[in-house]
Amino acid sequence: MKFNRHIFICTNHREAGTRPSCGHDNGLELVTAFKKAIKDRGLNTDIRAQKAGCLDACEWGPSLVVYPEGVFYKHVTLADVDEIVEEHIINNRPVVRLVNTFEKL
Ligand code: FES
Repeated sequence: MKFNRHIFICTNHREAGTRPSCGHDNGLELVTAFKKAIKDRGLNTDIRAQKAGCLDACEWGPSLVVYPEGVFYKHVTLADVDEIVEEHIINNRPVVRLVNTFEKL
């Protein structure tokens, strides 16, 4: 199936004591929440949310990226899911306060 947008949500798990990893911080729960938010709005034939491996944005996790525009989000929580779907996916307005500009931490 061809989708107009993909939301790739990092669920990568690393051993403790190494680089941080999104899978320790609701990665899989975020995938489930995005899938539900998309389906609840009848968008699941047009938009695909799925788990992804490391997006190399580990220090800003939980991280996700929306394609084709390539907008990265940082520190995403379950409480942010509806806002991202409503504002970015439906209204084409990325949620600026959560957009990852990869500034040094
Ligand atoms: S572990 Fe999530 S971006 Fe690297």
